[in-house]
Amino acid sequence: MISREEALVLLEEKIESIPLRRHMLATEVVLRAAARQTNNDEELWGLTGLLHDIDLEQVDHDPKQHAAQAAEWLVGKLPAEALAAIRAHNGEELGIERSSTLDHALAAGETLTGLVVATTLVLPSKKIADLKVKSVRKRMKEPRFAASINREIIRESEKLGMDLADFIALGVEAMRGIGPELGL
Ligand SMILES: [Fe+2]
Repeated sequence: MISREEALVLLEEKIESIPLRRHMLATEVVLRAAARQTNNDEELWGLTGLLHDIDLEQVDHDPKQHAAQAAEWLVGKLPAEALAAIRAHNGEELGIERSSTLDHALAAGETLTGLVVATTLVLPSKKIADLKVKSVRKRMKEPRFAASINREIIRESEKLGMDLADFIALGVEAMRGIGPELGL
């Protein structure tokens, strides 16, 4: 498995968009926290999160190619279960069902980062330091708020044996820890 340093070099090489880099860093930190919480391999889960969207600019956001290309690039850099999870996070488009714990963690975690960002950006300060976990839980139940964020995918966190409320709290706290890096 590649090192985190090598993964960061790859990320900077393949992704220009700052918001997309931040999304990948946010996904990493949420996956690391989820791995620690559930006694899984933190480095494996973290790097899977960090690199999951590495092909998005290359495939020009084409949903039919996205994630399949990433998994191909990462052969030999990440183990098979990470490659499977990366493919499966776009499973709806690629015709793959999510099955492993890591599959569900990646899909739920990366989707949660979007809801946390959206909930932070409607705060007067737009700072995650001021974000209450409760606000994210409330927004979770308001389908018209950030409507493109699929709440059902966030609920896949239950497959990790975690309560949704605990998963949301874990995600918020993890992202808060790198707020400045996320521009939040
Ligand atoms: Fe993503």
